[in-house]
Amino acid sequence: MSETLKSRTRQSRTTPSRTGTALVTGAARRIGACIAETLHRRGCDVFLHYHSSADSVTGLAAQLDARRPGSATVVQADLGSSDGVEHLADQVRTATSSLDLLVNNASQFFPTTVGSTTARQWDELMNSNLRGAYFLVQALLPELAVGGGSVVNLLDVHASRPMRGHAVYCMAKAGLQMMTLALAKDLGPQIRVNGVAPGAILWPEQNSCGQDQQAILNKLVMGRTGEPQDIASAVAYLGLDAPYVTGQVLAVDGGRSLNI
Ligand SMILES: NC(=O)c1ccc[n+]([C@@H]2O[C@H](COP(=O)([O-])OP(=O)(O)OC[C@H]3O[C@@H](n4cnc5c(N)ncnc54)[C@H](OP(=O)(O)O)[C@@H]3O)[C@@H](O)[C@H]2O)c1
Repeated sequence: MSETLKSRTRQSRTTPSRTGTALVTGAARRIGACIAETLHRRGCDVFLHYHSSADSVTGLAAQLDARRPGSATVVQADLGSSDGVEHLADQVRTATSSLDLLVNNASQFFPTTVGSTTARQWDELMNSNLRGAYFLVQALLPELAVGGGSVVNLLDVHASRPMRGHAVYCMAKAGLQMMTLALAKDLGPQIRVNGVAPGAILWPEQNSCGQDQQAILNKLVMGRTGEPQDIASAVAYLGLDAPYVTGQVLAVDGGRSLNI
C-alpha cells in the first residue's frame, strides 16, 4: 500500500464522521429538542420541525443560531395529513439539495380502548407515528441519497411488546419498527435506516397516574428513568457515527425490555 493510501485509510478511520444537514421532526420540545441540540453541537445545520409549539421552537432556533448564525431553520407542518408532509418536504427542498440525516421523532401517545376506539384516534396515532414518517422519507429520498444520508426512527420498547390499553399506539410503533428494517433493505447501500427504542424517559405530560409510574420504575434495571440526552446520543451514534450499521434497533431503556 502506498504511503498516501495508508495515510488516507488512517485518516478515514480516525476522522470524526461527517456531519451536515439534519431534519428532526417534533423538535420543539422534550426529546426532539435534545436530539436537535445534540446534532447541532456535533456540527449539523438543523431543520427544526414543529406542529403547534411555535414559542418553544422559536426559542430553540434562536439559541442555536446564536451559537452558529444561520444554522437553524424552523419548519412547520402537520404530519397527520398528506399535504402537511409534502409541505414540510417542500420547505426542506427549497433550502437544501442534500439532507444527511432525517430523524422521525414526532409522535402522539394516548390510550385507546378496544371496543370504543374511534377512527379519529386511529388516524391520529397511525399518522403521527407511522404514515407521516414513511411519506416523509419517500418525499425526501433524492435529498437523502445525494450524500449517502441516513434515517433514524424513534420507536418504543412497546413496539415489540404491547402496553396494556395502548393497542393502536403499539401497532403504529410496530409498523415503524418494520419500516426501519424494510427500508434499510430497500434503500441500502445509499441510505442507512435505523431505530432507537426508548423506554421510560419523560412521562407524558397528560399522565397524572403516579401509581402506574411507580410500577414502571420498579421494572427498570437501572432503577431510574432515562434522560433525553441518552436518546439523543444514541440517535447521533446511529445517524452520524455508524457508517456500517443499518436495519438495527437500539433499545435505550435502562433494561426495561428485560422486564416487560
Ligand atoms: N417520552 C418517553 O419516555 C418515550 C418513551 C418511548 C418512546 N418515545 C418516543 O420518543 C419520541 C420522543 O418522545 P417525546 O415524549 O419527546 O414525544 P412527544 O412530546 O409526545 O411528541 C413530540 C412532538 O411530536 C409532535 N407531533 C405530534 N403530533 C404531530 C403531528 N400530527 N404533526 C406533526 N408533529 C406532531 C409534537 O410537536 P408540537 O409540540 O410542535 O405540536 C410534539 O412536540 C417519540 O417518537 C416517542 O414515541 C418516548
